[in-house]
Amino acid sequence: MNLVVASPTGMCFGVRRAIEQLESALSEYGSIFAIGSPIHNPQEVKRLVGMGLEVVEDISQIPEGSVAFIRAHGVSRAELEEAGRKCRVVVDGTCPYVRNVQRKAECLEEEGYRVVIVGDSNHPEVKGILGHIGPGAVVMNGESEVKPEGRRSKIGILCQTTQREETLALVASKFIINTDEVRVYNTVCGAAIERQSSIKRLAASVDGIVIIGGKNSANTRELVVISESLGVPAMWVEQAEELNRGWLRDRRTIGVAAGGSTPDWLLEEIVRKLKRL
Ligand code: F3S
Repeated sequence: MNLVVASPTGMCFGVRRAIEQLESALSEYGSIFAIGSPIHNPQEVKRLVGMGLEVVEDISQIPEGSVAFIRAHGVSRAELEEAGRKCRVVVDGTCPYVRNVQRKAECLEEEGYRVVIVGDSNHPEVKGILGHIGPGAVVMNGESEVKPEGRRSKIGILCQTTQREETLALVASKFIINTDEVRVYNTVCGAAIERQSSIKRLAASVDGIVIIGGKNSANTRELVVISESLGVPAMWVEQAEELNRGWLRDRRTIGVAAGGSTPDWLLEEIVRKLKRL
């Protein structure tokens, strides 16, 4: 079996930065509370929990005077302010590219645009963006969710950083008719685009792709969707134990790719195991 590893692949700048901030804060303070999972990779979160991280669902569960960590996907403005009030230290791991989307949404709202976010309404990043603007914004997870409405004056569109540019373009095109003014910000992150492009290149030369990443990771899911849409079967695993030998045995050349929140150690471990099979 030949192995080809996608390039670039794996951990993106924003997640790497958040983990470095978290590790350095853990060594300084010992105990830190994260509001929601700090990154979408259960194995890496488990490693950080072993170092003193505690993940809570809600800011109300963080004890007064403790140290809080803001995840790479960001949180709402209210949560950020509340963390600032009750915690002695707030380590803000919000990825600067996510912060940029939050700012753009705020600007669109201030300038009177009805904000449309292309993305998954259940994803923490999208919830965080919504939490920086008023209740008039809408979230659409694809062109099929654009419903016919009456004449609109100003629509401002942006997207979750891990969306595909094609999805943003399709949604935006639906608004051209019947709207006086459409402003579109392409807020797909460069790291996500690079990883999506690398899997497209990889798909041209392999019989199947092992995609490594948390089952809760949106950008990993995009990689799986791209691979399968190109007719290349994907095996999505979080860890080495999930590798299906029968699936691998039937293929001569296997590609390997990892989502933007997959740590290097996990990618290396799975590549080592694949080489031994
Ligand atoms: Fe940031 Fe892009 Fe990663 S938005 S968290 S660098 S995928």
